[in-house]
Amino acid sequence: MRFTVIDLLTKKKQGSKITMLTAYDYPFASIVDEAGIDMILVGDSLSMVFQGNESTLPVTMEEIIYHTKIVSKATKRAMVVADMPFMSYQISKEEAVRNAGRLIKEAYAQAVKLEGGREILNQVKAITEAEIPVIGHIGLTPQAVLRMGGYKLQGKHPEQAKRIKEDALMLQDAGAVAVVLEVIPSELAKEITESLEIPTIGIGAGPFCDGQVLVLHDLLGLFEKFTPKFVKKYANLREHILKALNQFRDEVEKGLFPDKEHSF
Ligand code: KIV
Repeated sequence: MRFTVIDLLTKKKQGSKITMLTAYDYPFASIVDEAGIDMILVGDSLSMVFQGNESTLPVTMEEIIYHTKIVSKATKRAMVVADMPFMSYQISKEEAVRNAGRLIKEAYAQAVKLEGGREILNQVKAITEAEIPVIGHIGLTPQAVLRMGGYKLQGKHPEQAKRIKEDALMLQDAGAVAVVLEVIPSELAKEITESLEIPTIGIGAGPFCDGQVLVLHDLLGLFEKFTPKFVKKYANLREHILKALNQFRDEVEKGLFPDKEHSF
């Protein structure tokens, strides 16, 4: 049985933590699914950790559809959430609904995620009215990196914190089924979590959120360009992979592979 929006709210009510990770391809999505992670986000972070871009801005609808389709195919239990890429929902609510619809209809996502607060409420309402579950995303919103001037802690100053709190409530009122809180102080995330009926899913937002999300490539040690303070590396797969590849190269060069066991 797939994890659904009902399970999201049930977990919030029960005080059980929600888990979410990114995945962009078949092998990793199937492992994340098998590990019992509740939600898989086909995040626009794929721009940085998969495509090697400097920001999330270049990702297109076609690319998110391509990756979401693969992730949907690879999973049985996790809810698949597709990130709406930069400029796929900002221009008008009509475009937002059309693009959200494509992610459901062509890529089999079960929900979509949009960055922003009060400025995208019309889009959140319209997508919700089209019967598509929406997950909000406030605090540090990487698609606003140019305006924010970098990937910095948000909500440090009282007026900024007030605005983020208000945005969370507005997203809930507009129909969002959950909201991602990125890189804000733990106490602010706690206040928001306590004020909402829908769950909060934190990334760099401390321990009081209803759930936690990380970028899979960060958690597994597969992204070496930079590691934000909030990332815990649960493995160093890059090192393991390098070791295996060096051993293969060495054995081929020395004529040790293939041996009798691996030949006909
Ligand atoms: O794109 C992404 O991976 C995200 C997470 C950081 C929440 O939006």
